[in-house]
Amino acid sequence: MTSFQEMWAELLPVGRSASSGGYRRFAWNTADAECRAWFEQQARSRGLTYELDRNGNQWAWLGDPRGQGAIVTGSHLDSVPDGGAFDGPLGVVSSFAALDELRSRDAELTKPLAIVNFGDEEGARFGVACIGSRLTAGVLGRDQAYELRDADGVRLPDAMEKAGYDPTAIGADDDRLSRIGAFVELHVEQGRYLTEEHPVGVASAIWPHGRWRFDFHGEANHAGTTRIEDRRDPMLTYANTVLSARKKAKLAGALATFGKVAVEPNGTNAIASLIRGWLDSRAADEATLERVVEEIRQAAYERGERDGVRVELTRESYTPVVDFDGPLRDRLAKRLGNVPVLPTGAGHDAGILASAIPTAMLFVRNPSGVSHSPAEYAEEADCLAGVAALADVLEDLACQ
Ligand code: GLV
Ligand code: MN
Ligand code: MN
Ligand code: MN
Repeated sequence: MTSFQEMWAELLPVGRSASSGGYRRFAWNTADAECRAWFEQQARSRGLTYELDRNGNQWAWLGDPRGQGAIVTGSHLDSVPDGGAFDGPLGVVSSFAALDELRSRDAELTKPLAIVNFGDEEGARFGVACIGSRLTAGVLGRDQAYELRDADGVRLPDAMEKAGYDPTAIGADDDRLSRIGAFVELHVEQGRYLTEEHPVGVASAIWPHGRWRFDFHGEANHAGTTRIEDRRDPMLTYANTVLSARKKAKLAGALATFGKVAVEPNGTNAIASLIRGWLDSRAADEATLERVVEEIRQAAYERGERDGVRVELTRESYTPVVDFDGPLRDRLAKRLGNVPVLPTGAGHDAGILASAIPTAMLFVRNPSGVSHSPAEYAEEADCLAGVAALADVLEDLACQ
């Protein structure tokens, strides 16, 4: 049996970039395969039943995988580009450590217990987050998934197949979900919202959020000879839209981020012909989110008219507000000694599953609040407090 620290040390080098120190574990790439092999090995070395579901999510079962009312925990092992070590892996490693803790307590489980590694939570490769859980819950259809492509034009099913997985059966997995009594995901907190005296908290809600792609169509031309008045430069429209997004979001108490951009033809001495900018926007409620995105759209279109640039907007994904199961949330908070209950702006597989089954989340303190960055960090003592909390919660749910 490997301890929390040993498991952590095993995963730490996998997919880590030597230049940035961040992780590049993207769906179906080599680093992802190494993480998956690690998961399978952890399951088998503990004598758990290892299972791969139709959507490429990995499961490790203590007890009967076909039993009713299973208690499931876990998270994901993939990362954003140059992500941190904790977002995702902390939940998976803590799950194995909590299961070990339950065994050492001789806890008498009355329900099957499972650990899951959901595939492609971050959506770094195919643009849609939480693909594994969305497919399972049926909120991403098989046909839609088949159309997803990465930046090199590789289709999702082809990437899956190349990695040795069968994509033909992907789709909603109602049967699996019907056998789950509750899902609890432990995750590093991502915004400095846990206070000094509390290393662990419980999630109340996830802000509604989505991804929108702006295409700014201009005209390629020579940087040295094209008169200012003759230019149709999409870079101007894009830059202005970024500034508007910041202003509109701030006024509304929402968030709007352009973190990814693609430029064509991407030459220093050529005016761009096309800029693609991806907007990630989030707010406490759906009406505010819709209003902010509409205001950003209007600002982009107005500016585009001035610049002679045609603007197109495509919504690539959307996750409505998630209110986690009230009784489950209260039960966890009480079991852990009335710890803080807090919302988050980050998306999670737990948020996707919440529409189908009772779902809750535990957060482990993040002293700097930095996440989706190589600097993401949590103290080891806090991580171990998270493991103990998860074990307590699982024992409460699986032994009743
Ligand atoms: C995923 O972590 C997200 O919230 O974007
Ligand atoms: Mn993340
Ligand atoms: Mn995550
Ligand atoms: Mn996430």
